[in-house]
Formats: sequence, C-alpha cells, structure tokens
Amino acid sequence: MLQAALAGYQRELEQIASLASDWNKAPPAAVWECEEVHLSRRITHNSNPDGVDRRGFLECMAWAGTGVLWSAAGGVLSSRAFGQGSMNAAGGLRFVQISDSHMGFNKPANADVNATLQLAIDQINGLPEAPDFIIHTGDLTHTAKPAEFDTLDQILKGARTRQVFFVPGEHDTAADDGKLYLERYGKNAKGAGWYSFNHKDVHFVGLSNVAVLEGMGTLGPDQLAWLEADLKSQPSSRPVVVFAHIPLWSIYPEWGWGTADSEQALGYLKRFGSVTVLNGHIHQVMQKVEGNVTFHTARSTAFPQPAPGMAKAPGPMKVEDDKLRGVLGITRVEARTNNQTLAVVDSTLDAGGR
Ligand SMILES: [Fe+2]
Repeated sequence: MLQAALAGYQRELEQIASLASDWNKAPPAAVWECEEVHLSRRITHNSNPDGVDRRGFLECMAWAGTGVLWSAAGGVLSSRAFGQGSMNAAGGLRFVQISDSHMGFNKPANADVNATLQLAIDQINGLPEAPDFIIHTGDLTHTAKPAEFDTLDQILKGARTRQVFFVPGEHDTAADDGKLYLERYGKNAKGAGWYSFNHKDVHFVGLSNVAVLEGMGTLGPDQLAWLEADLKSQPSSRPVVVFAHIPLWSIYPEWGWGTADSEQALGYLKRFGSVTVLNGHIHQVMQKVEGNVTFHTARSTAFPQPAPGMAKAPGPMKVEDDKLRGVLGITRVEARTNNQTLAVVDSTLDAGGR
C-alpha cells in the first residue's frame, strides 16, 4: 500500500517538475490534486500581482521537502521517501546544509536557539555516514555580536564533521558591514565573502548577496566579474553547487526574497549540465527546477517564517511549542552513482535524521 502511494506521489511530483520548469505557466490540475491529497493546509490567497496563481503550489513544495528525497536529472524531478534503499555510491559526495541559526535570538518564536542548533548537530552526528563537510548558508547570528559567533563556533565544534563552509546572512553583516564575520570566516574569501573550491569533481561556489539594495539581495559587479572568470575555468561537465544566503531565484520580491542581479549570475551557469543552488533566508523549504538548475531553500535551525504573502510581513513566526521541531531542520545533499545528479533531502529536527 505504501509502495502504491509512493508511486502515486512520484507521478504527481513528476508533473510538478514539468510545471516547475516554467514558472510563468499557471499550474494545471495536477498541482491541485497534490494539494488536495496530501495537504491539510493550503494557500488560498494569491497576493502576488505577477499573474501567476500560486495557490496550493508553494504548500505542495513545502510538503515535498519533508521526508522525501528529491533528485533532478535533465530537469526532471523524482522523489522517494526516506529509507528507500541507498542513494549514493560508496565514497560519493555527501554534505549537509544548515542555515539561519540566529545565535542570540530569544523571542517567543524560539527562546532557545542554542538548543535547536544543538539538535541539528545531533541529527548530523546521527547520520549513518559522516558528511564530507557542512555548509552554513548565513544568518549565523542574530546581531553579529562576538558572543553570538562564539556560541555558534562552540556548538559546531560538537559536530563530528569539523569542516564548515560559511556565507554571510544580512544579520551577520548589517551591524558592522561584515567586518567581524570576515575576520572570523572570510580568511580565504574575496570581497564581501565569496569564494570557490572543488571537491570530488564538483565545483562549489559560495556567494555573498546580502548587501541589500532596495529590499533585494545583490551580488554586485565585482562579484559577478569574479564569478564569470571563476566559472570559465571549469568544464561544463563538472557539477556546480552554488550557495548563498538570499535566494538566487525570485521567490517573493515584495518581501525581498530574491536577488536583484541573479539573472546575470545564472547566465554564467547555463552551460553546465548540473547546477544546484542552495539558499537560506526564508526559513522554509522551497524548490524549483529550471533546465539543469535546481534551486532549493533550507529550513532554519532557529525559527520558521510565514509562507510568501501569508502574513503582513516576513519575520519570526510563533508556532505551538510542540510543533517547533517540525518546522526546523537540516538539508542533506548527496551525489548519485554517476556523480552528475545531486539529490537534495530535507529532514525536520523531529524526524531523527529519517
Ligand atoms: Fe534568517
């Protein structure tokens, strides 16, 4: 029965994938079926004036991020539940993304962000195989105080994977233009904190897009010029993983949930066969596939935010205490056997790594 249900989910998700390849098309009935079958909550009000009716769609994406493995090959999404067999070759790439830890935050949405970050680390430590490294996609702290960075470092020291790559969030840079962040985490970075490296024949690019202009994230001409040159040195066949705090796709510009000059960056990535873009900032899972590019945003380890347009403004969202762990989480990214396709798997902090 479970198998039949999963097969049904997969068919629906494949239909969603074909939709996601063109965000400008209105979602057809398949999305609404997904919404009706699997969701107890759904978006009933579409406040985005761009003509795209997103009712149901975003909630469906949010559902898909819980306990379901996503993979993308040639722009086609597929899914299966956690625990359905091994998904990566021995020795293959595997890493974990965490995001938006907001050390120092202490409002009702989460009065103990240290404890939930610790839970995330416990979950990573409980994975059957240690990840190669951890990526933190920004908002390490809430107000960029030295003590907040110290607390983050202390908790991360408990991870059995000691290598952590960072990009800044706007909370890490707003107070002092990123000075303290760069002193601590930017030693090998350029400019406002961007850099790249290769690992297991995958090219990783960390970008800094938190110099906010008119409410939107920006990369700026210097970083874009560097990115163009950096990518030129890589063969098209090499998978690329890009990570940055603010989404590099336009999720909800009214709330600044997008990067004003991301199109130029994405243009440089077009020739690559496999591109995975990992972001944070919005504190919820959303995914979109466009050609060979998979965009994915991660949950926070600290507090959730409302779905786009579902509140007057973005910000910490209080949920019942016993529901909090169910809206926080980590993201695992793993190479499949051919090392061309990266699978993105989200799990919540109450999922015990499943
Ligand atoms: Fe954040």
